[in-house]
Amino acid sequence: MKVLVVGSGGREHALCWKLSQSPKVSEVLCAPGNPGTAQVARNVEVAAGDTEGLLALARTEAVALVVIGPEDPLVDGLAERLREAGIPAFGPGADGAQLEGSKIFSKSFLDRHRIPTAAARQFDRSGAAKSYLEGCTTWPQVVKADGLAAGKGVYVCADVEEGLSAINVIMEECRHGNAGARVLIEEFMEGEEASVFAVTDGKTILIMEAVQDHKQVGDGDQGPNTGGMGVHSPVDALNERLHKQIEQRILVQTLHGLRQEGIDYRGVLFVGLMLTDSGPRVVEYNVRFGDPECQALMMRLEGDLFPILLAAANGDLASIDPPHWDKRAVIGVVAAAKGYPGPTQSGDKIHGLEEASAVEDAMVFHAGTRAEGGEIHTCGGRVLCVTALGADKEEARTRAYSAYDLLEWDGKFCRRDIGTRAEARAAVQAASDIELELLGERD
Ligand code: AMP
Ligand code: GLY
Repeated sequence: MKVLVVGSGGREHALCWKLSQSPKVSEVLCAPGNPGTAQVARNVEVAAGDTEGLLALARTEAVALVVIGPEDPLVDGLAERLREAGIPAFGPGADGAQLEGSKIFSKSFLDRHRIPTAAARQFDRSGAAKSYLEGCTTWPQVVKADGLAAGKGVYVCADVEEGLSAINVIMEECRHGNAGARVLIEEFMEGEEASVFAVTDGKTILIMEAVQDHKQVGDGDQGPNTGGMGVHSPVDALNERLHKQIEQRILVQTLHGLRQEGIDYRGVLFVGLMLTDSGPRVVEYNVRFGDPECQALMMRLEGDLFPILLAAANGDLASIDPPHWDKRAVIGVVAAAKGYPGPTQSGDKIHGLEEASAVEDAMVFHAGTRAEGGEIHTCGGRVLCVTALGADKEEARTRAYSAYDLLEWDGKFCRRDIGTRAEARAAVQAASDIELELLGERD
């Protein structure tokens, strides 16, 4: 059977890589793909936004399944167009995709269904948003552009100046275009973040392993938000009890809510969570696999991905046995181009790809790359994601960073602290415990 994967990022490279290993899949096509997907699939030059072109491609090639990677075509209704044409598609329709397409929609969905999240207010005028911020007595506050902004539309503001400047950037300078026509200003939640992924056919939920992303561009979670600078899995902070709470209070409630609202949701439900003192709360919904979370998940997934995605698309997920997961740890490090998440430099020749890929249990997933005359050049902010398995997190880290260090181009950078957040927090805690002890002695 043929499968068509839509998209051209690291997530799609990982999906193509995994699907190409399925004994049931004769060929993977990727539209439009990248030089990484070309190693495991046949790239076809149809853009992810070209609904009619994709429909024609799926028909001509008689594909058994279309897997839609990115959020934009989902929000634009590609999945339902395919389903209307009788082609099984993995991904929610435009109605379900609003969970990611509009932060205001998703916040009111969360509130309607009493799913724990941060309290928030919405604004469609910058003056009103600014007056509200000027009256805030607790900081930080989180300002979010309503629409899709490639992970860059969220501003965690430490004080009123930062809050007002976020409103200027979003609503007056329109840096995120129409996505910033409305904003949400929400309460800051403190805690450890985790992403939970579930595949659903709208009736049954299959929970996948949790992954932790590192959204900010700099070490120690400094600097602006990005699409994600690195991941690790499993997530130490998620114990059995928390898993149960997330399943019952969040995932099952979400599915009930979707059904109540008549939304037939077939695809990934990706829930960004804050593990707060008062329990897990939703930061955001996404309606597709995360990038780079997907790369980590695909490395840990044992067995065949294809039947899972096909069953979800066909509304038959109950027939699938839950997959097994590699017990080992995985770390994914994003190799980014100079300037990311702002305007980036493109067209630099990448050296060391073969050497990096040869590191034990490492994979180099392509995202912002382009093939030119037998060479691979950069063409995007997040260029590659170097992902490695190891017996424990330390070994996975060593492998991922040693593979990263073999790559070379002008202006390459990464975060050096992927997978060490728990250790950093423990160190801060230990230091403050010592301080308290010293204070105690003085008393
Ligand atoms: P989002 O795109 O909504 O996931 O937000 C991007 C990042 O901003 C999240 O991964 C968090 O690190 C941070 N963030 C968003 N909302 C909040 C919140 N209410 N409290 C604390 N941090 C937040
Ligand atoms: N890495 C975050 C996302 O895919 O939304």
